[in-house]
Amino acid sequence: MATRSTLAGFGSYLPRRIVSNDELARRLDTSDQWIRARTGIGQRHIVSEDETAVSMASSAAKRALEFAGIAPECVDAVLVATSTPDQVFPATAVRVLNELGVKNGFGFDIAAACSGFIYALSTADAFIRAGQAKCVIVIGSEVYSRILDWSDRGTAVLFGDGAGAVVLRAENDEADRGLIATHLHADGATGDLLYVDGAIGRPEHTGFLRMSGRDVFRHAVSKLSSSVDETLEAAGLTYSDVNWLVPHQANIRIIEGVARKLALPMERVVVTVDRHANTSAASIPLALDEAVRDGRIRPGDLILMEALGGGLTWGSALARI
Ligand code: UT7
Repeated sequence: MATRSTLAGFGSYLPRRIVSNDELARRLDTSDQWIRARTGIGQRHIVSEDETAVSMASSAAKRALEFAGIAPECVDAVLVATSTPDQVFPATAVRVLNELGVKNGFGFDIAAACSGFIYALSTADAFIRAGQAKCVIVIGSEVYSRILDWSDRGTAVLFGDGAGAVVLRAENDEADRGLIATHLHADGATGDLLYVDGAIGRPEHTGFLRMSGRDVFRHAVSKLSSSVDETLEAAGLTYSDVNWLVPHQANIRIIEGVARKLALPMERVVVTVDRHANTSAASIPLALDEAVRDGRIRPGDLILMEALGGGLTWGSALARI
């Protein structure tokens, strides 16, 4: 009998401090009206000094374990999707293993920018299907406020901080629950459309996020649409089978574009971009946690997740809750 990765637990963490568009408009040549109209963003959460990629990831993971009713001793691996780790090493995931009290596990970070959670989900699923792990926590944790050029209105208004986590557990596929298909893509030729202009290994290290927003937008709608088609086709399912679209939350106009393509009404799309802004790899697990806990996403629902980010990287994942 084949093994499936079921989504057994959900958790998230948002920094205490909320920054409104109006607050940003006091420091930048922008306005609440522009930000809402072009992106759908109304506010974002920004870390304080005591909140880090590790602390947020650990809080989200603890909540996800509680939800699943799984003890830390049963965890085989932690994968953290992040492009903003606290340290070059140890990996965020290894720090999280320690915070959770996992003694017999392994862990590593995955850097695929805003697509990181889909990449990490797909990687964890491969470990589970191969029989190498039975319980894996997949986390997205990001502190983009620390890589933003706060004088650049073109990017500073778009991002927020936060973390989300999902517990994947190996089960036999009789119940037809769990991850059904994932697809990953990358195109390095488009690497200069969205990047951070430095890292620890570069002498000219500065480390600010740079983006050609309009170009990324154009790629996002077309690449995400073909990616979700590919994933549904692989599963032998169609748009009408999907109960919930849980997209990466970069811009409400991108989300609406993909929903239109899928012929899904916006009532069946989980939207958090208005309150969280773009939290990169954390945005999908944050949205999932919210919609599962408030009862919108229910057991048996078919959910479609998709994301595109720096690389460019993109991908999608289909799962039955
Ligand atoms: O998660 C990773 C993937 N990232 C994305 O998916 C982001 C994709 N891109 C986008 O979401 C949109 O392209 C943006 C929200 C970044 C920009 O929206 P846009 O409708 O593409 O605007 P634009 O870049 O074409 O700029 C339009 C105007 C420009 O002024 P001019 O040249 O027309 O006079 C910008 O200088 O808006 C100006 N502008 C702003 N004005 C007020 C740019 N940023 C701002 C701002 N406030 N914050």
